Formats: sequence, structure tokens, C-alpha cells
Amino acid sequence: MSVATAVAHPNIALVKYWGKADAALNLPATGSLSMTLDVYPTTTTVRVDPDATADTLRLNGSERDEQATGRVTRFLDVVRELAGSTHRAHVDSVNTVPSAAGLASSASGFAALAGAAAAAYGLDLDARALSRLARRGSGSASRSIIPGFAVWHAGTDEESFAEPLPAPDLAMVIAVVDSGHKPVSSREGMRRTVLTSPFYPAWVTSTAETLTAAVTACREGDVDRLGRITETNALRMHAVIQASDPPLRYLTATSHEIFDRVERLRADGVGAWATADAGPNVVVLCRAADAETVRAALAGLVELVVAHPGPGMRVVERA
Ligand code: DP6
Repeated sequence: MSVATAVAHPNIALVKYWGKADAALNLPATGSLSMTLDVYPTTTTVRVDPDATADTLRLNGSERDEQATGRVTRFLDVVRELAGSTHRAHVDSVNTVPSAAGLASSASGFAALAGAAAAAYGLDLDARALSRLARRGSGSASRSIIPGFAVWHAGTDEESFAEPLPAPDLAMVIAVVDSGHKPVSSREGMRRTVLTSPFYPAWVTSTAETLTAAVTACREGDVDRLGRITETNALRMHAVIQASDPPLRYLTATSHEIFDRVERLRADGVGAWATADAGPNVVVLCRAADAETVRAALAGLVELVVAHPGPGMRVVERA
């Protein structure tokens, strides 16, 4: 019996992934750019069990049903095919993201699962191969393999991995907005957008151009340009989503209030730019030196967490 444990952190995209070119291989329609965080780690242990007849999943201490385990089993099937194994596994995952926050737990979750499963099944994969593997579980997980800033490339199965990108000294202030209603998952929201949003083709072409500009801004350390790109890209993503049918809207009044406060901060001369994923939380990008100023300006509305660039996925134990 072989066991391995891995830790991974969530990431927040500055240029978003929203739409697939291939759902089976989980290939994105466009590339994306993100920062892996130093908060909210997920720790996952995979134990390969030659005697087990089915995979099991324990999440934050409670055993999950067959449906929840299905996505993990489908992912483990990819690992088993690579490893030439038919053995089932027990997966035990502890996620420190507060459940109301709904912060990209699939990114840290599948990055940690990819690392632990690869090690437990005896695969020796480099960062590129691990990123491609994590992508099969969840697209954004490909980026959580990488520390700090990462670009995840669109392309074929072989070409679609994330790799590190040099970046200036940045931080993110996470505003944890609890919408109170059950969100539509990224996967379902994306599918709905691709199938029904008339703006989707424009989103794809503009995001490809945006990514090139963002990579250049990042490499050149042009924080103002990168910030502007980040906020514009987030609003474009929410615009293409909001044009879907049936209607789909992730941002709430509180989310908009935070975007307003960030705009006022900029008017006061502080470099701060807002983004939001498929939920009501808003994440504010700023220079590391401005993180406290930004946090103070947002105080009083919702819980705030300051995050910095964090580590990539690490295998912390194997036996
Ligand atoms: C809005 O990676 O969760 O956070 O590949 O279907 O698992 P799947 O989707 P997922 O989508 C993330 C969407 C996003 C934007 C981003 O992180 O780039």
C-alpha cells in the first residue's frame, strides 16, 4: 500500500479562464494568468488500496457520497491510466477555505490531489506534467501547481500547462462576501455561457489579446497597466456571463459596493484594482506596500484577508 500527502493553495486569476475548447481534456478556449495565494491551503492524502473495490473520499472529516466521489474517481482514472494501475484509493482532503467564501477550492483541491495521487501511484512527474494532470481535474488547478504568478496556456493536451511568470511585488486583499444563495458552479456557468451568451466569441478574442498585454505588463513590472487589465478583464467576464440564458449573475450589491470603494481608492491615488470569480467575493490587487491601506479602506463591510504570492504544490509526505 502506498501513501502520499500534498499541500496546495488556491489562485486568483488576473486574466480569467471562462470557457472550454475541449470538455473531455479540459482544454481552455484561451490562456489565463494568476497569482497563487499564501492563504487557505488544502492538504490531501491519497492511500492506494489493492483490496478496495471503490475509491472513497473524505472531505474535512466527513465521508462523501458516490456522486461527490465521482469527479475524484474520474480524475484518479487518469492517474491510474498513466501509472498502469487498477487499484482503488482512499482520498482524505482537508480544505481550510471557509465554506461561505467559496474561494477556488477546486484549484487547490485538484492541485493537491494531482500531487498526492501521482506520488502515491508511483509516477515521477515534473511541474509541467503535474500541471497538465491537475488541469484534468479542474482547469484552474493547473495554475496552483506553480508558485506565485503563472500563465496557463491554451492549446493541445501537450501544450496546455501552466508555468511561472516573473512579476512585480504584489498582494491581494480578499473581501469575503457571503451571498447566502447556492452558487452555480464555474463548470455549469461556463457551459451556459459558451452555449447561450451572444458575447462569447468577443470574450474569447479579446481575452487572447488581453493575455498578451498582461504577460508583457507583468514581465515589465508595470503594475498600473496590469491592474487596469485585471479589473477590465474581470468585468468583461461578468458581462459575458450576465448575457447568458437562463440568467446568471454572480456579483451582489456588496460586491459592487467593493468595486465602488476600489474606484474611490484609485481616485485618491492608491493603486488598487478589483476582480471577482464565479461568486460574490471580490479580490483587490495592489502593490504589496499598499496592502494595509487597501485593507483599511475596505474595512467594515465584510471579512478581509490579505494574501501574498504563495508556494506551488508540494508533496510533504510519502511512504
Ligand atoms: C472564474 O477551474 O473551477 O475562477 O475547469 O470546470 O473545473 P473547471 O473550472 P474552474 O473555473 C475557474 C473559473 C474562474 C476563473 C479562473 O480561475 O481563471
